[in-house]
Amino acid sequence: MPKRIGVLTSGGDCPGLNAVLRGVVHAATARDWEVVGFLDGYEGLLSPVQYRVLDKRSTAGIMHLGGTILGTTNKGRFVAKVGHGGKAVLPPEIIAEAKETLDGLGIDALVTIGGDGSLSTSVQLQEAGINTIGVPKTIDNDIDATSMTFGFDSAVTCVVDALDRLHTTAKSHKRVMVLEVMGRYAGWIALHGGLAGGADIILVPEIPFHMEKVFEVIKEREAKGAQNTMVVCAEGARIGEDDYITKHKKAAGEARLGGIGEVVADAIAENTGKDTRAVVLGHLQRGGNPTALDRILGTRFGVHAVDLIAEQKYGHMVSYQNYLVGDVAMEDAVSQLKLVTKDHQIVQACREVDISFGD
Ligand code: F6P
Repeated sequence: MPKRIGVLTSGGDCPGLNAVLRGVVHAATARDWEVVGFLDGYEGLLSPVQYRVLDKRSTAGIMHLGGTILGTTNKGRFVAKVGHGGKAVLPPEIIAEAKETLDGLGIDALVTIGGDGSLSTSVQLQEAGINTIGVPKTIDNDIDATSMTFGFDSAVTCVVDALDRLHTTAKSHKRVMVLEVMGRYAGWIALHGGLAGGADIILVPEIPFHMEKVFEVIKEREAKGAQNTMVVCAEGARIGEDDYITKHKKAAGEARLGGIGEVVADAIAENTGKDTRAVVLGHLQRGGNPTALDRILGTRFGVHAVDLIAEQKYGHMVSYQNYLVGDVAMEDAVSQLKLVTKDHQIVQACREVDISFGD
């Protein structure tokens, strides 16, 4: 009997997921293994079990497509993260049913493509005796033990494109533009997107900011003749020691952030008298075609996940360090988030080119 492996995409989607799936299928097919793709994340493992057999034909022509051909969810019965980063233990009956499904289908190992929350689920499955290999996915780039996740570059490219567009209108109207971007509790998207897109002020969760400082920077710029100011604000940015700002109602699962951009824009308008507009970039950052880098990373990650199965390195996650694809113990990767540090080289470079962090 040929070896059978399972694969699923879980959590928020991002560009590059299909490249990973195609990479997994090609590498597995080369070893004469069969690939079963579960639908809608881990949910496909539970009754009514939903899957489709993936082969080279069904994964042809998908690498450049955003989203995931398997579907995904960041809700449901396998959620391992709740509130603002709190951990949840999966009910034993859910794990038992997932194990039964995999055993019933003769699946030897499961490739789980997901972010911090989904890989925390994977760790729990591994502990329960299910052979898992993780692939780090998220636009937020907040998974520890990998210098990059796929999806991040595409999101940053989207931010830069938005800033390029906002620049021209901000300049014409002599306005302040506040662009709110995703990233949850990490400021990577704001930091990279803001630097590449020519932002004047970048607000990230890791560097609490002060509104007074933001007003001051805008006024100083005006005094020096700059009539427009571009502010990039991460959705998780915090004013001083204040809590996260969110306009979304509390719900089960992970907390939703969003709304800080408008709060900042309103305060700027009121204090500086500048015509100010807020733009929320939202899910545009998650949609669309992956960049070349994300197609390459995705393919390499998918191929390496199959190599790890061949080596029976279960409980490991594919990682990327110094341009090389390797692997780390999945538990180490999810034990903490990878956050921007105040003295990070990129933060320093931003300060050198007169970008303020509002601190
Ligand atoms: O983790 C990816 C991400 O896009 C975050 O940046 C964002 O806070 C969240 O997911 C949005 O989730 P949803 O798709 O449920 O709105």
